[in-house]
Amino acid sequence: MNLAKRRGFIFPGSEIYGGLANSWDYGELGAYLRRNIMNQWWDFFVGRRTDMVEISPAVIMNSKVWEVSGHLKEFSDPLVECKECHNRFRQDVNMGMSDIQKLKCPSCGSTNLTKSKTFNLLFKTSLGPTEEKAAEVYLRPELAQAMFVDLPQILQTSRRQPPFGIAAQGRVFRNEITPGNFIFRTREFDLMEFEYFVPAKDDKKWFEYWLKEMHRWLAQLGVKKNHLYDKEVPAGERAHYSQRTIDIEYDYPFGRGELYGLANRGDYDLKAHKIDLTAHVIEPTFGLDRSVLVAMLEAYHEEQAPTAEEGETDLRVVMKFPVWLAPFKAAVLPLSKKPELEKIAKLIHEDLRKAGIVADYDETQSIGRRYRRQDEIGTPYCITVDFDTLKDRAVTVRDRDTMKQERVKIQELPMVLTKKL
Ligand code: GAP
Repeated sequence: MNLAKRRGFIFPGSEIYGGLANSWDYGELGAYLRRNIMNQWWDFFVGRRTDMVEISPAVIMNSKVWEVSGHLKEFSDPLVECKECHNRFRQDVNMGMSDIQKLKCPSCGSTNLTKSKTFNLLFKTSLGPTEEKAAEVYLRPELAQAMFVDLPQILQTSRRQPPFGIAAQGRVFRNEITPGNFIFRTREFDLMEFEYFVPAKDDKKWFEYWLKEMHRWLAQLGVKKNHLYDKEVPAGERAHYSQRTIDIEYDYPFGRGELYGLANRGDYDLKAHKIDLTAHVIEPTFGLDRSVLVAMLEAYHEEQAPTAEEGETDLRVVMKFPVWLAPFKAAVLPLSKKPELEKIAKLIHEDLRKAGIVADYDETQSIGRRYRRQDEIGTPYCITVDFDTLKDRAVTVRDRDTMKQERVKIQELPMVLTKKL
C-alpha cells in the first residue's frame, strides 16, 4: 500500500478533504494497469475468439430487472450491530456463522449485539427532480442482468446460437457492510464478466472448460498456481441463482479470499426474464480491482542487488510485471542534465511515444536512483543517453530483470523495443 501510494499507483480518494473511508483513486500508473488488464482480458476472452459478443450496457436499469432477477429480495448479507460501540458487521464474514448468542463484537468484544438482520446491498438513487418512490432506481450490482435482458436484441443482430457468449466490462456498485483490505472490498468497483450460453446437456463440459481458461488467464496475469485455490462453494453459501459455483481464491497477505468466481446459473435467469432461448448459462466473473491487487502482489519482489553499480542501497525493490502489464514499457534517462544530452533524450522519448511505446522520461537525481525508481514501478527497459551517444548515435538499453545492458542504435530503438514487448 505504501509503494502504491508513494509511486502514484493507488491512493485514498478525496484526500484533501480528509478522504472518504474505503474510497481509492488510481493515479497514472494504476490507471495504466487497469487499462492494460481490461484490454488484455478483452483480447483473451473476446477479441481472439469467434464465439463472443461484447456489449456496453447502462448502469441504471429498469427496477423491474432487479425484482425479477431476485436481487431485491436475495442480494443481501446478514448484518449485526454492536449496541455498545455501534459498529456494524457481517455475521458471516466478520463473526463466523455460529449461534448469535455466542458472538462477540470484533471491534470492542461486547456480547451486547442486535439480532442478525438481512441488509440489501443494492445502491438506491432516484431519477430526475423528484425523490418519490416511483422515481427510485438502483445502480447495477453486476453486469450479468444486462446480458440477459438484451439477449433478444443480440440474438437478432448477431445471429448467434449456443454455444456463444456475451461479455461486458464496467462499474458496479454494492453497499457493502464492511468494505476494507485496501482495494479488495470496496463499494464501487469494476467487473469484467460474461454469460456463456450452452445446450443444457453440455453445461458440465463447459463449466470445466471455462475453469481451465480462467486459470490460463491468471497465468498470463503473472499469478503463481500455488497461490490459487479452487473452492467448491457449498449449496447453502451459493448465490440464489447458482446451481454450482467455484470461487477461485487467492492467498492474500490478510488471508485466503475470493479472487474470481465461476457459476453455473442454469436457466434461472432466462426463465425469470421469460427469454425465448433454451440454454444453460455458465458465468465466469472477474473483479478488475482484485486483478490489479493480485497482479501487484505477485509482481512485488525485494532482492539484494548483485553489485553496488546502481545505487546507495543494495536492496532492490522490483515490480516484475509481465511486460504487457507494465505501466511504462520504457524510460528514457539522460545521464546528465547537459542540454546536448537532454535534447536527444527528449527526441527519443517523443519518437517512442509516437511509435506506440508508452515511455517515461526522467532526468532528476543520479542514474542509479533513477534505475531503482523505474524498477519499483516495473518498467522493463531503461534507455540511457550518455556522452558516447553524441558520437555513436546509440544508447544503452537496460533490462529490468537481468540488469544486463546492451548498446542499440537510436534509429533501430523503436524496432528493437517493439520486438521485445
Ligand atoms: N455476476 C456474478 C457476480 O457479480 P460476484 O461473486 O458477486 O459475482 C464478482 O462478484 C467478482 O467481483 C468477484 O469474484 C470479485 O472479483 C469482485 N468483487 C465482488 N465484490 C467486490 C467488492 N466489494 N469490491 C471489489 N471487488 C469485488
